Amino acid sequence: MVLQKPKGTQDLLPGTVEKWQYLEQKARDVCRRFNYKEIRTPIFEHTELFQRGVGETTDIVEKEMYTFRDKGERSMSLRPEGTAGVVRAYVENKLYGEPEISKLFYIGPMFRYEQPQAGRYRQFHQFGIEAFGSVDSTLDAEVIALGYLFYKEIGLKDVRVEVNSVGTPEDRALYRSKLLEFLTPLKDKLCRDCQSRLERNPLRVLDCKVDQGHFEGAPSILDSLSEASSAHFEKVREALEAMGIPYSVNPRLVRGLDYYTHTAFEYKAEGIGAIDTVGGGGRYNGLVAQVGGHDQPGVGLGLGLERILLVMEAKGIEIPPSPQPDVYLIALGEQAEMKAAELLFQLRSRGLTAEKDYQSRKMKAQLKSADRLQARYAAILGEDELAAGNISLKNLADGQQETIPLDRLAEALAEKK
Ligand code: HAM
Repeated sequence: MVLQKPKGTQDLLPGTVEKWQYLEQKARDVCRRFNYKEIRTPIFEHTELFQRGVGETTDIVEKEMYTFRDKGERSMSLRPEGTAGVVRAYVENKLYGEPEISKLFYIGPMFRYEQPQAGRYRQFHQFGIEAFGSVDSTLDAEVIALGYLFYKEIGLKDVRVEVNSVGTPEDRALYRSKLLEFLTPLKDKLCRDCQSRLERNPLRVLDCKVDQGHFEGAPSILDSLSEASSAHFEKVREALEAMGIPYSVNPRLVRGLDYYTHTAFEYKAEGIGAIDTVGGGGRYNGLVAQVGGHDQPGVGLGLGLERILLVMEAKGIEIPPSPQPDVYLIALGEQAEMKAAELLFQLRSRGLTAEKDYQSRKMKAQLKSADRLQARYAAILGEDELAAGNISLKNLADGQQETIPLDRLAEALAEKK
């Protein structure tokens, strides 16, 4: 029996990997312009980090982590998201860059044991950023703007930005009691998930897709915000408007992770069936202290790369084609083959993309391969050419052929670029 990949994972094959490289390159480029520096943290961490960081009552920590004991009997988990690990690294490596703030980004795999469907996988990839050390509202807006610009530059022009404020823990306690007053009489009408959420995490109830019909007249968290929290949110919105970033306020937006304070936001797009969230993030002012560091505020985002590719595909957005190979070397005869090996190495050393046949096939079959590879030129080396110190160069676009001295091949190809 042929072994198959684990459920919810994907092989990224040549042809698809180029799309990933393109997204990664775009992500790096936008981070360069916004002055975010790359950080790479381990793919597994102590389970306790996620319990403390992401939150014990979240679906992610309760049901979705890949947790295992290592041979030293320590409980480890594959990272279900990027923020907790980056916060841990920020604290452990004392990246408190005062007077500068720390602005970090990452691209990499995350793991959640979820029921796979289009846009939902057990191993998926996020491009994320985290900025530490400032409570300034314009930093929240900058993070939202970076994500917006990234989507725009890869051609996803109609990604919608939804923002909300989930306030401080005190604001939420007040809201929680108002919300429970509203929801408790409805309890029997709610779905089973919401009935259990009602006790543990009532804010998440309003996020339920199934029960939306019951929530008309529900209190809004925005009415429970303190003056300072409202002012922060107001300034985030002002900064988004100043940057010309379209957004809507969704007072029911609560994220699936516990660490958020004040700003929470999501990016929405059509094209992946039932799923419409392609990215999200927010501010997390208590998290660094919770993980054991100085009380430094943070704000960040995480964008799902698989979901982006699905939306690009649905919208017919192509990535720029990879450059064509410069030349396919066709050698006929044993001596010519050896010379071709030498030439190929020279060409590659000089920066050209070059390939040859490795199966001693006939000229016609080799020319076909050159076409399939979409090489710009075929360079043909037979015994006669070799004896004369020449090589034939055929332009595969127009069929024109010329004979040039062997030692001019690299220059000739470089000139013809
Ligand atoms: P999140 O909303 O859990 O936030 O995930 C961010 C994005 O990752 C989602 O919007 C989605 O695109 C993608 N994603 C999540 N789960 C899956 C999955 N099973 N399959 C495919 N894609 C998925 C976070 O993870 C936070 N760490 C974001 C953040 C950073 N907040 C502050 N800083």
